[in-house]
Amino acid sequence: MRVMMTGGTGFAGSHTVRRYLAAGHSVRLLVRDAEKVRRVFDPFEVEIPEADVIVGDITDEDSVMRAMRGCDAVYHGAALVDMKRSMAARVLDTNYRGVELVVGNAARKGLASIVYVSSISVFFEPGCGPLHIDMPIAAGTTAYAKSKSLAEHEVRRMQAEGAAIRISYPTGIVGPEDPGLSDANQAIYIFLSQTGVNTSSGFQIVDVRDLAELHLRLLEQPEGSSRYVAAGPMLSWPETYQVLDKLTGRWTRRFPIPGPLFRALGSLGDRIKSVYDFSFPLTRDAMEFATRWPGCSGEPTTREIGISFREASETYRDTIRWMYEVGHLTSKQVGKIAD
Ligand SMILES: NC(=O)c1ccc[n+]([C@@H]2O[C@H](COP(=O)([O-])OP(=O)(O)OC[C@H]3O[C@@H](n4cnc5c(N)ncnc54)[C@H](OP(=O)(O)O)[C@@H]3O)[C@@H](O)[C@H]2O)c1
Repeated sequence: MRVMMTGGTGFAGSHTVRRYLAAGHSVRLLVRDAEKVRRVFDPFEVEIPEADVIVGDITDEDSVMRAMRGCDAVYHGAALVDMKRSMAARVLDTNYRGVELVVGNAARKGLASIVYVSSISVFFEPGCGPLHIDMPIAAGTTAYAKSKSLAEHEVRRMQAEGAAIRISYPTGIVGPEDPGLSDANQAIYIFLSQTGVNTSSGFQIVDVRDLAELHLRLLEQPEGSSRYVAAGPMLSWPETYQVLDKLTGRWTRRFPIPGPLFRALGSLGDRIKSVYDFSFPLTRDAMEFATRWPGCSGEPTTREIGISFREASETYRDTIRWMYEVGHLTSKQVGKIAD
């Protein structure tokens, strides 16, 4: 297939681009920065022809339509993730408008396969039970959460009208070869370079390589629409640190903070952000996720389409090794993984 892709220079997107190419598909990337395409793909000796790199923006219909011309499938993974209060309106507009233009136009053209990356967090409400795809869509409190929820409503409406949209719902995406350090990878980096927090509930990740595999499977589904969770096993916070300790042979520093206190700190962060804006995700919303995550299961995805999600220890090992190799972490911080 010839696939128009957004977010191809990002973490999940760059892995998905490489997986699609390896499977014999061709890609056309809609990007904001053509130089970044070279920076991201040259190390893997993946060459994307200049004609297949369209510079534009997911909120600009003209560039979206140019990128889509001649393609028979679309992968929409681009989203703006920014926790600054000053960015709220832009995050909301970019992520919702992007879906309207990219997924909406692909649906109107009747493309054979449209893969959209949502988030399992669209189902999360504080205090809810284990997450699954038949739950109601939550409203979301931050601009990012709201944007993904609004987008989800829109994409579901298009599915109901018959568009061949296949949705993935990732948990925190972790893995090696991240062009930036997206949220969940950044958490690992902070745990090993600074400190972690030992609190209630836990941390549930999906390996970026398993997610890319799921995106390939969704692209190649012969017909219709579908929805699948992308999630590895749920580990409590103590279990997460035990895995990191075992892999590195070091004691990962972690402060015990009870869930209610951590959530109160998040509310304080919200108040500080209203006076002094900063991007660190110390928000009530982020602390609700960190301390009350109910978990979700990737088992239906494994059972129905054969995607298995690897153990967190394998993902952490490869991610930490990669962070060491590219210089994010020092040999002291990664301990025996450096050997
Ligand atoms: N990371 C997670 O833990 C997680 C969890 C659940 C769901 N998700 C979803 O998964 C998807 C991928 O996440 P990620 O972590 O891989 O993100 P990422 O690394 O931050 O990549 C985001 C991509 O979107 C592109 N982008 C942002 N705004 C754009 C715009 N206005 N026009 C065109 N492109 C734009 C970025 O372009 P540049 O390269 O130019 O910056 C980048 O390629 C997103 O939809 C996100 O909501 C992520």
